[in-house]
Amino acid sequence: MKERLQELKEEALKKIKDSSNLKDLNDLRVSYLGKKGPITEVLRGMGKLTAEERPKIGALANTIREHIADLITEKREELEAAEVNQKLEAEKIDVTLPGRPVKTGSRHPLTKIVEEIEDLFIGMGYQVAEGPEVEKDYYNFEALNLPKGHPARDMQDSFYITEELLMRTQTSPVQARTMEKHEGKGPIKIICPGKVYRRDNDDATHSHQFTQIEGLVVDENITMADLKGTLDVFAKKMFGEDREIRLRPSFFPFTEPSVEMDISCKICAGSGCRICKQTGWIEILGAGMVHPNVLQMSGFDPKKYTGFAFGMGPERIAMLKYGIDDIRHFYTNDIRFLQQFSVQE
Ligand code: DAH
Repeated sequence: MKERLQELKEEALKKIKDSSNLKDLNDLRVSYLGKKGPITEVLRGMGKLTAEERPKIGALANTIREHIADLITEKREELEAAEVNQKLEAEKIDVTLPGRPVKTGSRHPLTKIVEEIEDLFIGMGYQVAEGPEVEKDYYNFEALNLPKGHPARDMQDSFYITEELLMRTQTSPVQARTMEKHEGKGPIKIICPGKVYRRDNDDATHSHQFTQIEGLVVDENITMADLKGTLDVFAKKMFGEDREIRLRPSFFPFTEPSVEMDISCKICAGSGCRICKQTGWIEILGAGMVHPNVLQMSGFDPKKYTGFAFGMGPERIAMLKYGIDDIRHFYTNDIRFLQQFSVQE
């Protein structure tokens, strides 16, 4: 019996030593130390022993049990530590690795240009005014000296919603709305940025929806010289001090006289190139002295007040400033295009 116990001990020790995971170890504990285990089995036969041998074998069996139990505990601690180490190893992070850069967005180039132009005029004492994109025919056309059936309406193909409502084709209606609000009392000095809509086919230079910035100054004694001086400051601040402007006679129903403003071409310095179509000049905006009818219809006395107005397309200005060759780039949001404008401000 003694030998059998020794044998069991050796066998158990070897198995404990060889066990490689906690589950196997637990199985060993159950099988060697449990009630149905071989040691208990041996002890069951103790009845056959002499009274002298019995306590000795009993003591031996207990020692072996304790020894096995101790070894199992020891092995379990060892396996548990190994498991923790393995986990730590697997979850190891390299704190010296550089971080992944956080992707930041940037303001849209069109927003930037609009804000730049706004700032420029705010610096000259203007206020920013806004109006609705769904506009009354009255403000979009009639109040701007374009009665129903006027041929100049054809210059701006429109999206009509009802007979009297349309998507505004220009930001000029904000002129009429603002004058009405002022109830015949000047001065007014505003710029109005906003979206406008026209029934155009989209191509490199046309879009059915684009942006305009309108300007309006109404006061006593406003002259064409004020308009020219203002536009000259604008052109030089926007495109560079070396730029010249010129005003060409033109026609708009809401201004009299009407002009178009060109700036000297920077690329060829006036000698003629592809961008300025060999003329040395690039058209930038429309402007003029507010037509007396327009002043009158919006409640201003044209004998007392005069004014100037201008309207420009920020897309066109951004295209010239940054050398962008297709207006559709502003609306298709190709990230490669937009990223070029994401320089830190
Ligand atoms: N509204 C005109 C257009 O869309 C631009 C314009 C021209 C606005 C002359 C003005 C102006 O205020 O005086 O073509």
